[in-house]
Amino acid sequence: MHGSAAARWSAMKPISLTRYLIEEQHAGRINADLRLLIEVVARACKSISIAIGKGALGGVLGEAGTGNIQGEAQKKLDVLSNDILLEANAWGGHLAGLASEEMDHSQPIPDAFQRGNYLLLFDPLDGSSNIDVNISVGTIFSVLRCPDGVTSPGDEHYLQPGNTQVCAGYTTYGPSTMLVLTVGHGTHVFTLDREVGSFMLTGRGVQIPADTKEFAVNMSNQRFWEEPMQRYVGDLLKGKEGPRGKDFNMRWVASMVADVHRIITRGGIFSYPLDSKCRDKGGKLRLMYEANPMAFIVEQAGGAATTGYSRILDLAPEGLHQRVPVILGSKSEVDTVTGYHHEKAA
Ligand code: AHG
Ligand code: MN
Ligand code: MN
Repeated sequence: MHGSAAARWSAMKPISLTRYLIEEQHAGRINADLRLLIEVVARACKSISIAIGKGALGGVLGEAGTGNIQGEAQKKLDVLSNDILLEANAWGGHLAGLASEEMDHSQPIPDAFQRGNYLLLFDPLDGSSNIDVNISVGTIFSVLRCPDGVTSPGDEHYLQPGNTQVCAGYTTYGPSTMLVLTVGHGTHVFTLDREVGSFMLTGRGVQIPADTKEFAVNMSNQRFWEEPMQRYVGDLLKGKEGPRGKDFNMRWVASMVADVHRIITRGGIFSYPLDSKCRDKGGKLRLMYEANPMAFIVEQAGGAATTGYSRILDLAPEGLHQRVPVILGSKSEVDTVTGYHHEKAA
């Protein structure tokens, strides 16, 4: 390309998600099927964003009157978002199957459509308790390869450790709608241009600051936590006069997507630890479509994610809806809280 034209063209920033994905494909980092998959998920998220934006006028608020396999009451928007993602992804030929927080079991792509080589898992609407009070909610997704030779995948084919994910992302439906994405080469942030209808790259290769003075945890569960977490948060609360030698600030949105997005933007530590109320279930957050994709995104942004004892991405999954304790965010702070857990174990 002629020099001045190239300069003029590259000055047209920011670039769209479509162009970003084409460039990733040309660089050999993703193939055409994965590009299509991400485009389709992003398009579905735009539809979800529009539905959420209508609020009370769209008749989308409130309870659906149904429950999911985890015993949680579904909101209308949980069901609607799930349906939007299912419909959008059924016919493109890029997937072998899908699994969701809102479906008891995974679903293979129907015989009527062509099947591809990827598996898609999602939390269609994260932070449902915040929908009716107009606080940010989100969508989280994870992409795995369908094992070789499997044409009609069952739940067991999804049980792959998080370190095998080929892509992970989330969309946050807040004051602006943003998509945060990794295909294993850094974490990138896109903002939805609502007039044009395109996600635009507004943060390439974002990095989470290693140190922080901000933590996110539901403090009302404090008395139910295990000893290492009690000690760690206790020391944070002692501030400047305590062993940490600095004052900490606290934030808790109760939408994991919003809390993680704050950490992606300015650092911090997020935790939903094990407590005596959720111990029998293994934790509160779900490994396959909450903890794993967020851990991948956070690690690709220079952060860390652990259960307190093990790296989240190295866990061997045992169930589609398995729950795990989650601690993630700024690297030094995650290392510090890991130290509290190992002191206990030693
Ligand atoms: P979901 O709405 O998909 O079920 O997830 C809600 C999760 C997560 O987003 C958040 O961090 C956590 O639940 C909040 O839990 P508490 O209400 O116990 O604080
Ligand atoms: Mn969720
Ligand atoms: Mn959800």
